[in-house]
Amino acid sequence: MTSSHADSTQAHYDRLAASYDQNWAYSPAYIAWMSRCILDRAAIQPGQVVADIGSGTGLYSSRLAAAAGRVICADPSQAMLDQLPDDPSLIPVRASAQDIAARRTKLPAERLDVIVMKEAIHHVPASERATVLRGLGELLAPGGRIVIAMLPVRIGYPLFTAALERFERLQPDPAGITTSLSDAGLETELTYDSYTLTLAKDRYLSMVRNRYMSLLASFTDAELERGVTEIQERFPGNRLEFADQFAFIRATRA
Ligand SMILES: C[S@@+](CC[C@H](N)C(=O)[O-])C[C@H]1O[C@@H](n2cnc3c(N)ncnc32)[C@H](O)[C@@H]1O
Repeated sequence: MTSSHADSTQAHYDRLAASYDQNWAYSPAYIAWMSRCILDRAAIQPGQVVADIGSGTGLYSSRLAAAAGRVICADPSQAMLDQLPDDPSLIPVRASAQDIAARRTKLPAERLDVIVMKEAIHHVPASERATVLRGLGELLAPGGRIVIAMLPVRIGYPLFTAALERFERLQPDPAGITTSLSDAGLETELTYDSYTLTLAKDRYLSMVRNRYMSLLASFTDAELERGVTEIQERFPGNRLEFADQFAFIRATRA
């Protein structure tokens, strides 16, 4: 990812920030499921130092704070951080994973017990990922862990073909991320969990038009409209049902 790519990622989230929490994936039941998946792996104890890197609007940070007491919420998009709930247990830090890993941005704690990164590792350029993961691992206290939640390379979303193909080309392989963390000296475990989503087709189509995934930002309006037509043809009926599968990597420092 070049700096112009980083700029367009930031522009995407700046634009999406105000409506981010209204996405389909963020029903209370979905958030409860995803929070459980993360918390089970993170095993946070009260008082531990936790950083949610790529926290966005803090959808999951509040649940992490309920377990830890407080959470450092780091994100390069100020517009996303501006949507954090007004809660003193959430400590906003405007920084990318690269800034934190390279210690260009100093966090309000020297050592971290838990780092959570949900759907943000793909925004770190491929050429920098291994260095960033190693740098994050070095911030962990002994026994500390990183939990990465990310989509697999193949997703079952009812998107149009060109979007699914582009996703597969761009999405990092969770197995590769796991290997980078093992190479950084951490003990790793890669597991998958999935949640079945059911939603009105019209709602999903309006989210596609709204480019709810950063992937969709790379399609023109005309391409997106053709994509919407393709989805309408491929998925008859008013409702869509599909599995949202996630990869979870836990990497623990000895
Ligand atoms: C799909 S959102 C996920 C937000 C939140 N973790 C969640 O699950 O709701 C991706 C987030 O990663 C942030 N991001 C983009 N580039 C990043 C980077 N290089 N390092 C850390 N976060 C980044 C974006 O600003 C955005 O808030």
